[in-house]
Amino acid sequence: MAKLYIGTNTKMVQTIAQSKAFLTKLGTLTADIPREQMELFVIPSYTSLESAGIICRNHGILLGAQNMCWEDTGQFTGEISPLMLKETGVEIVELGHSERRHLMGEDDAMVNRKVHAALRHGFTPLLCIGETKLQKMQGIADEVLRIQLQTGLFGVDRNPPPLRIAYEPVWAIGVDGEPATAEYAEQRHSTIRETLTTLFGKLGASIPILYGGSVNPQNALSLIAKPHIDGLFIGRSAWDAERFDAIIRMVLPCAMAK
Ligand code: 13P
Repeated sequence: MAKLYIGTNTKMVQTIAQSKAFLTKLGTLTADIPREQMELFVIPSYTSLESAGIICRNHGILLGAQNMCWEDTGQFTGEISPLMLKETGVEIVELGHSERRHLMGEDDAMVNRKVHAALRHGFTPLLCIGETKLQKMQGIADEVLRIQLQTGLFGVDRNPPPLRIAYEPVWAIGVDGEPATAEYAEQRHSTIRETLTTLFGKLGASIPILYGGSVNPQNALSLIAKPHIDGLFIGRSAWDAERFDAIIRMVLPCAMAK
């Protein structure tokens, strides 16, 4: 059965109190939507994880973490261990987000170590990939995506791995971003699908691929209507529960009809 994959990363924005209020409202608003039709996830700040986890479990929302260290324990000041995330009920770990790669200097090799650690601990990695504006202008977006997938997933031998891919072009993300057109996003998603099939064979085609980068109520439907776009990964437009619920309801029938 077709399913909608949809979620938000609240970045370094919501406090514990704000996360709790947001999740309680989102859970209540979406309570009537059967979760077999929709995988709904929220990725709050680390400090919110414990209290958010309780609300998520009560409302059929998957809890995610924004990053994770590849080591279980040790002298890694400022990092968060898979064991610590496990304690809070995290199920999804977002790895390689553009802001981690471009503001915090994460590279594909680090992302690859994190993917392995996540799989070892039974998390579902949400691997984020995307080209910069310069790479887009140079016409090498597809090459960049292939390299990010081949290196980020190097050595993963589970077939297919429990994995979500988020295609988030760097130039499309955030307040200064410009959303990709549905046509452009679909072309990149098709490259991603092909690469996953090369890596994992036929079963690789079943790995959900989400689009992220300035998704909003105006463009959400045209994006989800594309055959290779299985879901949406939303920032700002999802941080108000009512607005997020409205986007979900707008795109759900289209995702289900695929
Ligand atoms: P925006 O939707 O605010 O552009 O953020 C997207 C994103 O980075 C999701 O991880």
